[in-house]
Amino acid sequence: MRQCFAQLSDPHLTSLKSVRSRDLISKRALGYLSWRRKRRFEHRTEVLEALQRDLALSELDQLLITGDLTHIGLPQEFEQAQQWLQELGSPSKVALVPGNHDACVTVPWSESFALWQRYMASDDDQNTVRDGMNFPSLRVREGIAFIGLSSACPKPPLMATGTIDSEQLERLPALLQRTADAGLFRVVFLHHCPIAGKEKWRKRLTNASAIQALLEEHGAELVLHGHGHRAQYSELQTCHGTLPIIAVPSASALGLNGADIAHYNRYQLDRTDRGWQINIDSRRYRSEMQEFCAGTHKTLQINRSH
Ligand SMILES: [Fe+2]
Repeated sequence: MRQCFAQLSDPHLTSLKSVRSRDLISKRALGYLSWRRKRRFEHRTEVLEALQRDLALSELDQLLITGDLTHIGLPQEFEQAQQWLQELGSPSKVALVPGNHDACVTVPWSESFALWQRYMASDDDQNTVRDGMNFPSLRVREGIAFIGLSSACPKPPLMATGTIDSEQLERLPALLQRTADAGLFRVVFLHHCPIAGKEKWRKRLTNASAIQALLEEHGAELVLHGHGHRAQYSELQTCHGTLPIIAVPSASALGLNGADIAHYNRYQLDRTDRGWQINIDSRRYRSEMQEFCAGTHKTLQINRSH
């Protein structure tokens, strides 16, 4: 049976127009200046409206969002993003991991990630009230395991790095093993690039080498991330076979100053005799039409011994 899912990233959907000066302590002041000078011209409401129209035309089994919904992680931004998530779909259809902008500084849980909790939750955790993150998340949909990792944690000013905490590093191997044993197609999604040395030092995943080593040892079938605001395709060789690692640009970007214009990717997955076939269709924003249209197409064969 064919399964369809999509990934978008870094929508930076919030506005800081009505922010109060007392909210702009420490790292947030720099983030606000960056929004005033650059980011509000790059991340646009009209692109997000076109994105919602385009997503509404797709029948998706799961929509993955790989973080950075906000600019500086203010409580009012979490509220704006919660409303946007509700417009995209129910928590059972939309799975979220946070990004570094969402964890700009430490914010009380109840005013921040609690508002997104059901979108970040595992299947087993949908109705549990928690007071903190619970990653890796796991959702299983018709032969696919969606495994979410959080790399979002407050960092010093000017740093856009991320770290996967030790609890996630401990739990991930067993989760990858269990889902492989069940014959599932394992999609790992996170905000930062998990390949060591690939991202700029200021934007890197600080323990990418540990995550990369876990992926090489325990395998996965697909890794999706964002953060860099550019489309990228890489591969890792794992003990289970080749692992594609795919990044999408920001879903709201006009592509100013040489950045990639907004894209998101749709995936169609089919079983084959030797594993799976994935068809990847990139949906790209066209400024002149103010709509998302067909972009590149790619077909991958993921060979695995079942
Ligand atoms: Fe980011």
